Amino acid sequence: MIPAKRPVGRPRKNWDVKGVKGVKGPQPTQVRVREVLDDQHNGHLTATQQSHSQLTELEERVNDLGDSWETESLFEDVIDDLAEEEFFHDVDACTPQERVRYRRQLRETGPANFCRATVESGSITAKKLLTAFGIRPPAFLEGFPDYSYFGLLTLALTRELAKRPKLMRYNTIDDAVDLLKTSRNIVVLTGAGISTSLGIPDFRSKENGLYNQLEKLGLEIDEPSDVFHIDVFRDRPNVFFSVAKDILPTTKVFSPTHAFIAMLQNQNKLLTNYTQNIDNIEANAGISPEKLVQCHGSFATATCQKCRYQVPGETIYPDIKAGKIPQCVKCTIALKSRPIKRKRSYNKSSSKKSRRSRSEDDDDSDGQYDIPEPGVMKPDITFFGEDLPDKFSQRLGKHDRDLVDLIVVIGTSLKVAPVSEVVGFLPAHVPQIYISREPVSHANFDIDLLGDCDVVVAELCRRAGWDLNHKMVQGNQRPSIKLAEGYQSRYYFETVKPEIRS
Ligand code: OAD
Repeated sequence: MIPAKRPVGRPRKNWDVKGVKGVKGPQPTQVRVREVLDDQHNGHLTATQQSHSQLTELEERVNDLGDSWETESLFEDVIDDLAEEEFFHDVDACTPQERVRYRRQLRETGPANFCRATVESGSITAKKLLTAFGIRPPAFLEGFPDYSYFGLLTLALTRELAKRPKLMRYNTIDDAVDLLKTSRNIVVLTGAGISTSLGIPDFRSKENGLYNQLEKLGLEIDEPSDVFHIDVFRDRPNVFFSVAKDILPTTKVFSPTHAFIAMLQNQNKLLTNYTQNIDNIEANAGISPEKLVQCHGSFATATCQKCRYQVPGETIYPDIKAGKIPQCVKCTIALKSRPIKRKRSYNKSSSKKSRRSRSEDDDDSDGQYDIPEPGVMKPDITFFGEDLPDKFSQRLGKHDRDLVDLIVVIGTSLKVAPVSEVVGFLPAHVPQIYISREPVSHANFDIDLLGDCDVVVAELCRRAGWDLNHKMVQGNQRPSIKLAEGYQSRYYFETVKPEIRS
């Protein structure tokens, strides 16, 4: 069974990743890690004995990856916060070349030999080796002996080995073009990044992302993404409806990236477009409902949370736009025909109150009358804590898994499970291309094409000889493309603005 929608990592209250760098003061888990390490450090062993026994332990542990010890499980809580795909310039970090070399060496020699040849031989510290796997040495370990980093290193190695290995034969942009030209059953997995060129914000971009904007509103929630948590919705639907009017799908246009996906469909190459977007823009571009899985639902319908009555989504738009909580018409009609029951037995004060008019008493604030409320209508978008539509697992497991011959992931941070797990679920031998502004550290793609997705897909089409007919694509424009330092298959695309001659 596919589990409910949740942020990547272990289920926990604070789902969204917050960099340790930006956090003022240690977080509870970090304090606990420090305490455990303090205990170890102040124990009976001398530092040298400790270091030696820890090295043996590291070797044992990597031989048996998957084991758990207290420090390690505590580290697990913070590892997502420390993972970055960009290089660290402010710490003693591995160079891009070293990074590629260490990652390859780990896979080729296995974890035990890898540890022997690195930390155990003294050729590199565990602290520095962490950076080869995209893990920032945490500030709360600063000043501790190198063996204090072993728990984190074990996890970093586990994480790396759990990733699908990159297919070494696909590396260049032209390899990507050839794959697009020759594949017949392409799975395209999309996220909010494919709509940002239309002025719709994504969720997690630092500057303009919706969650950053929500943070400034001072809503009474722990994390901005709580706006989309089902428990919060059940308790306080007003939180969601205070922002819902700003995310209603209203536009009838589509981006060049949507046009690109529609083009794959028209060439009979599109197996399925799994979209996490709730903006319904795929329909504007002509992507057929049979080829589309709206993994996080959509505003197309809304359902009463009490009686499950479903209506077309647009019927609740007027309430949403007016900032009101939409209520179920079916419940309302049923309730009108029911007599209002007194809740408590007679007493003097309630008698006074009972003479007040109904309208004054509608909120039943003193609880004297049993006045049932109609149910709240919730747009059928999948909130955190809710199951994804059945079509997601049905299509993925029973149809696409056996047919897919290319996976193209576009404009998503892959931070929300189970959609983030799709790339690991599909057969590892199927080539994978990633197109987005920033690289991700928790999945291995064969080719990373980084930059604005509209620019990237336009260049892929140009090289393929396909006419991506869209008014936002300028036929004569060529992006500047740079190979990322230390990589053979990661490219940065930048739009070159035509020179203006005076
Ligand atoms: P995110 O905001 O997490 O990620 C969007 C990614 O697209 C980021 O990595 C951006 O850098 C990148 N991006 C933005 N504009 C781009 C552009 N023009 N070209 C290329 N890349 C661009 O959004 P999702 O991954 O879609 O759930 O988020 C997944 C889910 O988390 C959403 O479905 C949403 C949210 O909670 C809901 O509940 C509605």
